[in-house]
Amino acid sequence: MNVLEIIAKKRDSKTLTKEEIEYFVNGYTNNKITDYQAAAFVMAVFINGMTKQETTDLTLAMAHSGEILDLSTLNEIIVDKHSTGGVGDKISLILLPIVSSLGVPVAKMSGRGLGFTGGTIDKLESIPGYKTELEMNQFVENVKQIGISLIAQTLNLAPADKKIYSLRDTISCVESIPLIASSIMSKKIASGAQKIVLDVTVGKGAFMHNISQARELANTMIDIGKLANRQTVCILTNMDEPLGYNIGNSLEVIEAVNFLKGDMPEDIKQVVLTIGSYMIKLAGKGEDLEENKKNMLKNIENGKAYEKFKQLVEKQGGEISFIENLDNIPRAKYIEPIYSQKSGYIHQIDALEMGKIACNLGAGRITKEDIIDHQAGIILQKKVADFIEEGDVLAYIHTNKIEELEASKNNILANIKIEEEKIEKPKTILEMME
Ligand code: URA
Repeated sequence: MNVLEIIAKKRDSKTLTKEEIEYFVNGYTNNKITDYQAAAFVMAVFINGMTKQETTDLTLAMAHSGEILDLSTLNEIIVDKHSTGGVGDKISLILLPIVSSLGVPVAKMSGRGLGFTGGTIDKLESIPGYKTELEMNQFVENVKQIGISLIAQTLNLAPADKKIYSLRDTISCVESIPLIASSIMSKKIASGAQKIVLDVTVGKGAFMHNISQARELANTMIDIGKLANRQTVCILTNMDEPLGYNIGNSLEVIEAVNFLKGDMPEDIKQVVLTIGSYMIKLAGKGEDLEENKKNMLKNIENGKAYEKFKQLVEKQGGEISFIENLDNIPRAKYIEPIYSQKSGYIHQIDALEMGKIACNLGAGRITKEDIIDHQAGIILQKKVADFIEEGDVLAYIHTNKIEELEASKNNILANIKIEEEKIEKPKTILEMME
């Protein structure tokens, strides 16, 4: 077997064997296959696709390219959740303490943000003192003691995915269903998940721009789950406008804490309750989805979910005084209101553009080496379908970069469409697939 034959086979739309896929994945991970050969292979997959079996073989080869986290000492069904990416997506920060407060063990490794999508780890690091890197035994011990731990990927999990994902980013090959599906599922399998709930985002701020692409991605991941013996449920959610109101790391922590204290924007509430009800069900802690949602809301009302979040922060070294008094969280130097230039109904708040603007304000990374400004971002004052009067505040910009203010203001105004006609609130939960 050699890499040229494998590239040629995919170039000619032929089906690869498990051995050929493993040969490619191992060879590339161990630097025996060059970047240009891997780029040719990835482009051939991008153009010609993969069968279900090929996609599963690629997933498993990438999952086994590094360490596999063993969570068997927890003696519980480990359910993980993952989002295919979005803007203002603080769901993990809210959802995981809630389900943990209902007895679902949460042992989660999350990622950092790149480009316009944020990452849970960057958000957690905006809490002073919060340690995102724990030794593995400490991580597992925390889950045993308080039922939850949220850390960055410290183990060498799915290194093949890291290499292939970075390569895809540089050769315009990110938006491929077999490549996205295998990338996500390989990481979930390597991080010890037995069951998986996926938030498949659809719309302007997502990789999948329409529902039929999202269905295909969801189906691919569900099929991989079946073949890899990991039950997988997908919830398709709307990502045309940002989730909730706050975009940017510490701003999203503030919105998450307020949610846990009962201030629940409707779109976030829908996503949290839907994904959470499935996590509870898959973990074997509640068969009835509606009942699970009620229990989640009950633990917000009685403060148990908020207490669980504080316990998590404290256990990982974070200063809970910042959570108990959100005014203590440092704010950016410049907080500028943006006023609406006309009256009418909001028809569109472009999630992709808002993500890019927040990134330029300092909230995101353009390259992996960039340093994030945790205070930077945008706080929207309105959501799609809301009415706004001319001269009212549409959003606030938070930044430490004075030079970005003017352009960001104009960009935000250009990417929020206001019309005279009323419109319906868009649906947040589009479909559920399993
Ligand atoms: N998220 C991932 O982890 N991988 C992809 O390929 C796309 C989104």
